Amino acid sequence: MSTTTEQPALKMWSGRFREPLDRTFEQWQRSFPFDWRLLPQEVAASKAHAQAIAAAGVLTPEELETMLAGLERVGERAINWAHRISATSGQMDYETSNAQVGAAVVASAPQAEDIHHYVELELTKEVGALALKLHTGRSRNEQIATDMRLFVRESIDVTTAGLIHWSSALLSLAERCGDDVMPGYTHLQRAEPVLIAHWLLAYVSMLERDLSRFADARARMNFCPLGSGAIAGATLKLDRSIAARELDFTAPTPNSMDATSDRDFMLDFAQAASTLGLHISRFAEELTLYATAEFGFVDLPEAFSTGSSAMPQKKNPDLTELARGKSGRLLGAATALATIVKGLPLAYNKDLQEGQEQIFDIADTLAGLLSVLPNFTRALRFRQCAMAHAAETGYLNAMAAATYLSNKGVPFRKAHEIVGNAVRLGLDRGLELNNLPLADLQTLSPEFTEDFFDAVDIRATLDCHDNPGGTAVSQVHIALRAAEARIALLAAKGGALG
Ligand code: ARG
Repeated sequence: MSTTTEQPALKMWSGRFREPLDRTFEQWQRSFPFDWRLLPQEVAASKAHAQAIAAAGVLTPEELETMLAGLERVGERAINWAHRISATSGQMDYETSNAQVGAAVVASAPQAEDIHHYVELELTKEVGALALKLHTGRSRNEQIATDMRLFVRESIDVTTAGLIHWSSALLSLAERCGDDVMPGYTHLQRAEPVLIAHWLLAYVSMLERDLSRFADARARMNFCPLGSGAIAGATLKLDRSIAARELDFTAPTPNSMDATSDRDFMLDFAQAASTLGLHISRFAEELTLYATAEFGFVDLPEAFSTGSSAMPQKKNPDLTELARGKSGRLLGAATALATIVKGLPLAYNKDLQEGQEQIFDIADTLAGLLSVLPNFTRALRFRQCAMAHAAETGYLNAMAAATYLSNKGVPFRKAHEIVGNAVRLGLDRGLELNNLPLADLQTLSPEFTEDFFDAVDIRATLDCHDNPGGTAVSQVHIALRAAEARIALLAAKGGALG
């Protein structure tokens, strides 16, 4: 099982072994069945390492050129695997699933233990024995740490673009809703009227925080592990800034033990993804409710709904239901990752290999969600009459009524009590506050005068919340303009925050 000078060993580490591996164990411990997706990252990191070892004198300029060209050709294998390395391209190809592509790729390289081994084997086919020099001064431990950083960084960029796209869709919907109103809920009981645009802007605020969480994670993880070796640092005198620069990292990582075993960057990404998932699930839940006959606030776009094989009348909200479900999956992946890292002694441990699939799943789940949510959002049509009716019935102007009295000098606590009595009267008579006769209102407080009715109509009820961040019509217009400007700025910067 030992190496020859021309061919890489069947294994990358077989020299000290006398017995072959148990067949089942051998297959079971391989990561190539899932880490094949890291081919672009592995090739980029290998090219950067080749530059660094060439600068250290391990490769001649001609050898470097041959090596880089060979790596380029190995990287092109991914083109045959197509855009199906989909999470980082942002385009999901649902016709060919990752699982199908993976099976074909893995069958084409039955010896490859992992993506690092695969590239070494393929590079040998391209450039012969020169390929065996590539591993000089490096370890798979720093390679996988680098590949995963590159993968997560790209996934963050794809997610950021998707979030900007979805935010823009929410903003155009808000724009289209103009000054249309809906009931706002607390405890899922009607509370006060709000502009539909105000409700939609609440989601834009959540997404802006998500964007900044991803940007924070990106900035924090953007350091290059190459040159860290297996644990103690590279055994070759390397200029570590070469690889860092080639791969667009801010700088080399400062500690080799940390760099080879740190997976915080994966946790940061997973946690930002689960928080985004929670936001998506709240949006999905609200729309699922609003699409019920009981609410009747939204007509689900047919292009994004499904029917029932049993009940001919059904139009089901599968998109929002699945979106709600996917957030559980994101949260599960983040929890799995944290549990894998918890209690691991320094430095590299093979347990870490288990974290990769969680990250791939998160990247795929996010890419899928963000590929449907923007168009779904743009296709939403609200039943404005039903929403306005719900906003104008059920005493949602009671707080505006109490504010009316307190503006007249009645202490708020007292005003609250008086309006509570007025609501009680209305409930007994089946009348809204603005339909109660003035004379009856005046039995509750002499401060009620004719101007009360204008003070509690829908527009005044909205406009008494005339503070930045409130639902007064003019405030929502300002907030919408401001959010549009912020999102446009992010889109212009290509999504890069900070
Ligand atoms: N496939 C491995 C992983 O994902 C690569 C690193 C292997 N390192 C090692 N010392 N066995 O973690």
